[in-house]
Amino acid sequence: MRTLYLRIVITTLVVMIFSSLLAFIISNAYYQSNLKPHNDKRITGMAHDIVTFYEKNQNVNIDAYLESIGKLGYQIYLVNEDNKGSFYGGEYRKKDLDTKIINSVIAGQEYHGIANFPSSAFITGFFDNVLTNTVGVPLVINDEPYAMFLRSDVEVQFGELRFFFALLLVVTSLLSIIFVTVSTRYLVKPITKLTEATKQITKGKYDIELQVNRSDEIGVLASNFSEMVRSIEQLEEMRQEFVSNVSHEIQTPLASIKGFAQMLQEKDLLEEQQRHYLSIIEDESQRLSQLSKQLLTLASLDKEQGILEKTTFDVAAQIKQIVTVTQWSWREKELALDLDLPTTNLTGDQKLLYQVWTNLLTNSIKYSNPGDSISIRVWSEDDYCCIEIEDTGVGISEEDIPHIFTRFYKGDKSRSRQDVRNSSGLGLAIVKKIIDLHNGKIEVSSQQRIGTTFKVTLPNM
Ligand SMILES: Nc1ncnc2c1ncn2[C@@H]1O[C@H](COP(=O)(O)OP(=O)(O)OP(=O)(O)O)[C@@H](O)[C@H]1O
Ligand SMILES: [Mg+2]
Repeated sequence: MRTLYLRIVITTLVVMIFSSLLAFIISNAYYQSNLKPHNDKRITGMAHDIVTFYEKNQNVNIDAYLESIGKLGYQIYLVNEDNKGSFYGGEYRKKDLDTKIINSVIAGQEYHGIANFPSSAFITGFFDNVLTNTVGVPLVINDEPYAMFLRSDVEVQFGELRFFFALLLVVTSLLSIIFVTVSTRYLVKPITKLTEATKQITKGKYDIELQVNRSDEIGVLASNFSEMVRSIEQLEEMRQEFVSNVSHEIQTPLASIKGFAQMLQEKDLLEEQQRHYLSIIEDESQRLSQLSKQLLTLASLDKEQGILEKTTFDVAAQIKQIVTVTQWSWREKELALDLDLPTTNLTGDQKLLYQVWTNLLTNSIKYSNPGDSISIRVWSEDDYCCIEIEDTGVGISEEDIPHIFTRFYKGDKSRSRQDVRNSSGLGLAIVKKIIDLHNGKIEVSSQQRIGTTFKVTLPNM
């Protein structure tokens, strides 16, 4: 497996090698274009000085003289017309030089081998220790013409410096390799930790402590990751709670259906008893059917995208229709209905909104006492459509208010058994979901024993 660690180390090393190579080529090019003529000029000057000094001091032994100059860090080749020559100072690596050049220098011309040394990307002319890489000047010794070729002895002049730079280069490279190897571990460590953490999560362990105290990208990644783990954990808890709630809600009516069905099998039952048991079974089946309908609605709403089928319709007329459909239940409870429903056009999903008003109105009916009243108002405000359903019913306790939109939440445990039995606690969760999908909002204000008001505001677009 090629780990990230190995990748970073290899990449860094490749970059180091490549940049050294590039740096060499660039400095070589710089030598060729700028330093080479300068070097040639310097050596030419030196050659002239040697010649001038000798011409002024003819009595000096030329061999001893050139020998001592050679020791100072120069390589010299002295040659006469018969191509007989002698070397002073450091050895040349290549000693071949065209006789034409030698003859032309003897004849009095200067030779600029350093300035004209061929440029090549991978050879530094400066270090090339060959006879062609010299400066040649004429010299007369005892009336005989000679040619003298001269170049700096890099070995002598820069020997220590060269060693110093080579050492610098080697030590720098070695240290870089060591430091890259170590520091990459530090870089990669949090990623390894994250990978370890993802493995834990797949196993269902969420109590992960990621201690990455960094403010760079990896630090941000780690903190986002921790946040994600927390929300996955919450989601998982919600899922488990949801499943247990659903099971519970299904279990209760099923148990009661089973019980009454068993009782029906007993002999000697009065016809009246039989009818009573059957009606309970019917009620419970009705509840189950209602529950599964609500769950299906929630499931389809959870899919969210593209489920809204928007049309423009008169919301007041829609609410009037619901009032008519539910009239049996509010008339039975002797509730007074006060309606203020002027024609108001609303753009939204007609079917889903029908469910919103139905859920809100049935709640108001369910949680009101005989003789209470319900008022419904619809009006437009700027680009919004407002619907308010107010009742003078039992109200919601302060502790319950924050939870009423939660799935399966049924308020106030002191409520009559019948109400609790007929509830699944999904009504308002569905209402909230539908209103959220319409980008609207729902507000509730309530006081126990005084009444409840739900206000829905929907953008009319
Ligand atoms: N108009 C209201 N007056 C008083 N309490 C209310 C009113 N509307 C909702 N509630 C409280 O909020 C809780 C949640 O309401 P929701 O409609 O979600 O569930 P439900 O009515 O109990 O059951 P379901 O509507 O699924 O049959 C109710 O149990 C009730 O305690
Ligand atoms: Mg309800």
